[in-house]
Amino acid sequence: MDKNTLSITDNRTGAQYVVPIFTGTYPRYGAAINAQALRQIKVSEDDFGLMSYDPGFTNTACCKSAITFIDGDRGILRYRGFPIEELAGRCTFLETAFLILHGELPAPAQLQEWHRQIKSHALLHENTKKLMDGFHHDAHPMGMLVSTVAALSTFYPDAKNLHDPVARRLQTYRLVGKMPTIAAYAYRHSMGLPYVYPDEDLSYTGNFIRMMFKRTEVGYKPDPVFERALDVLFVLHADHEQNCSTNAMRSVGSSHADPYVALAAAAAALYGPLHGGANEQVLRMLHEIGSKDKVSDYIKRVKAKEVRLMGFGHRVYKNYDPRARIIKQVADEVFGVTGRNPLLDIALELERIALADDYFIKHKLYPNVDFYSGIIYQAMRFPVEMFPVLFAIPRTIGWLAQWDEMLKDPEQKIARPQQVYVGADCRKTAESAAV
Ligand code: CMC
Repeated sequence: MDKNTLSITDNRTGAQYVVPIFTGTYPRYGAAINAQALRQIKVSEDDFGLMSYDPGFTNTACCKSAITFIDGDRGILRYRGFPIEELAGRCTFLETAFLILHGELPAPAQLQEWHRQIKSHALLHENTKKLMDGFHHDAHPMGMLVSTVAALSTFYPDAKNLHDPVARRLQTYRLVGKMPTIAAYAYRHSMGLPYVYPDEDLSYTGNFIRMMFKRTEVGYKPDPVFERALDVLFVLHADHEQNCSTNAMRSVGSSHADPYVALAAAAAALYGPLHGGANEQVLRMLHEIGSKDKVSDYIKRVKAKEVRLMGFGHRVYKNYDPRARIIKQVADEVFGVTGRNPLLDIALELERIALADDYFIKHKLYPNVDFYSGIIYQAMRFPVEMFPVLFAIPRTIGWLAQWDEMLKDPEQKIARPQQVYVGADCRKTAESAAV
């Protein structure tokens, strides 16, 4: 018998089935059976067939993907085969974004053209400003970002040409180009400051920093340490295979909705405190703890399950999050300019106590990417509300690459999960029962 198969005996009927097993690049990581193969397992002819039950899709592969590889047990993250450590050390965010989308690092001429396209699409239609002006002064910037990205759909009806690769590429340039502008406008709106137009002479992150923080200076220059630190943070956040927000992008995109509304859905998923909203929650938690001597008490509350230790734990990383290590180095460089953020001492103490504690060891809870990113962002003067927005900007390329891959994949269909119905059996209203 073919070794790459699974034999199943249905003890309800005694029937036996042989189901093929297929693997991806790594047989140890990513062996699967086709869930449809279970449907032949029936107790009678009119039986629907067996399904698998998997709330939260903890063990369900929804696609074959060649973009990002994660080995959670070994703390490995690679984009298109390149280790995250190498990309963060040697490549800019825009080079990494090109790689994620196209599968190869850009040649110099390709990189120049990629830069040109992204920068030339950084401007927003002037009506977008009016739309953003309508938000209340204390509107959360993530709510503004989600709504504004969805509204872009109305400006670009050509985005509905999903099956035209040229049109798809144009939407990618637009979204990657405009996300920092929308993000900065959302912040400036909350501050009552005039919007700053993009400057194409600056790098992707340099321009974003300028649009955020420029006041009345004529020749505003972003700090090069902040510019590079943000660039590294953007590389680390660019993609993370099939997480909650990427799943939202693919799921909404699978109905052939345009990429603006699909990306708005992905950003909405990212906003949640268990996903990209976690870095905001980490800062709030560190403030709530207040000082190093209160850390032990807080850990007790975590162990009593009164609160979660934000910035700890991950669905896939059960050893350590490789992004958290790189971020710690970036933190040192930023604090070299800003001085040490006092919250860092509380964070380090939390990490020290948690990593030695049985509860955290048993549950395999380690600091994730969000544990230190918020402390760096705060040192760079980004307000806490902007943290999930700072996650959404670089993740845009990941969402778009995954969306592009999905549309080109002939095996993909509109996302439509099954359910196991546990509600009432067929019944009648009082009136019809009386007839
Ligand atoms: N603090 C305390 N206990 C935790 C934590 C935590 N941060 N995370 C998980 N646990 C415990 C949980 O209580 C449960 O315990 P038990 O088995 O005794 O009931 C066990 O660990 C498994 O938890 P789970 O919620 O089933 O695990 P999950 O894989 O579904 O959740 C997670 C992953 C990231 C949602 C979760 O670890 C969490 O809520 N972390 C805090 C929020 C956070 O930092 N999120 C950012 C993730 S990284 C950025 C991104 O990619 O989105």
